[in-house]
Amino acid sequence: MSFNIAGTGMYVPEKVITNDDLAQIVDTNDEWIRKRVGIHERHISVDETAAQMGFQAAQRALDNAGVDKNELDLILAATVSGETVSPSTACMIQHYLGVDCMAYDINAACSAFIFLLETAAGYFARGKAKKVLVVGTERMSRILDWDDRSTCVIFGDGAGAAVLTPGEGYQDSVFRVAGGDDVINIPQFIGKSPWFTPEPIKPYIHMEGQETFKFAVNSITSDITKIMERNGLTPEDIDHVVLHQANRRIIDFAISRLKMDAEKFHVNIQHYGNTSSASVPIALDELNRQGRLKKGDRIILSAFGGGLASASCLIQW
Ligand code: UT7
Repeated sequence: MSFNIAGTGMYVPEKVITNDDLAQIVDTNDEWIRKRVGIHERHISVDETAAQMGFQAAQRALDNAGVDKNELDLILAATVSGETVSPSTACMIQHYLGVDCMAYDINAACSAFIFLLETAAGYFARGKAKKVLVVGTERMSRILDWDDRSTCVIFGDGAGAAVLTPGEGYQDSVFRVAGGDDVINIPQFIGKSPWFTPEPIKPYIHMEGQETFKFAVNSITSDITKIMERNGLTPEDIDHVVLHQANRRIIDFAISRLKMDAEKFHVNIQHYGNTSSASVPIALDELNRQGRLKKGDRIILSAFGGGLASASCLIQW
């Protein structure tokens, strides 16, 4: 037994920041950001935490699934931008929902939503859970260096969630981890101890953009090809591809390398930027709410990012 996605939800904070707004803060311009990344605007949290945004998305996913929150057996959450390491963001979402079930976080940066699905699949396989809530939520604006134009223009805040129920919808997955801190890292501020005085650090996201770009294009194209091949599927058999929204040019490379119909790729980076672990569930929720997912549709989800890690999965709706 695996699971079906019974419902989805998303939440983004109200404040919208355009590229022109950013040009007031750092040396950048609307043309560069649109052309090199594909972003027009992003939502930025003024005072909402990652857990609060995740809670909003979770409620919408529960409503969409028609599942009572008290039926939940497990909440899994992912974030790299939560306010606290402990309690976990999942524990805070559980607290806001006012429910009594197991809850914990998984850290796999931008590809984490698919790691959450894979973890949930184990609970369904062992018959340990019947209703699971998975949430990717990010307040990236908190961990950006707003003096660094190579990172601060590409991220946004938001949350996406899904409710999982027993079924055979989650069919296959591929994961890749190339561990190391040289391409992407987000150092954590730790105070000095009596025995050790750390070097001062900037607790912001550091990213080698071009290295990440290459990793992204290579991993998503080979992971998606692998999933199709081992399930006896051709690009024509896939109805939708939901890629992590990190750069419009990465999506375009994937479309041309995979020789797939561009219409099958849902693209929303222009409105949200890169929302890390929230990116895939936000895009999935948009497709769902637009009524574009039909029963039996084959969907590939694919993401990549810090770790380095990438993850792809095949879902039948
Ligand atoms: O979610 C985690 C996964 N993340 C990703 O997948 C991100 C992957 N990487 C990327 O999307 C791209 O590498 C970036 C968007 C981060 C950067 O784009 P790029 O085309 O790789 O630019 P670049 O770093 O090669 O820089 C090209 C030029 C440089 O100027 P010079 O040296 O050619 O004069 C940069 O200084 O663009 C300049 N530049 C900017 N100019 C205006 C860099 N950032 C900006 C900016 N505005 N915001």
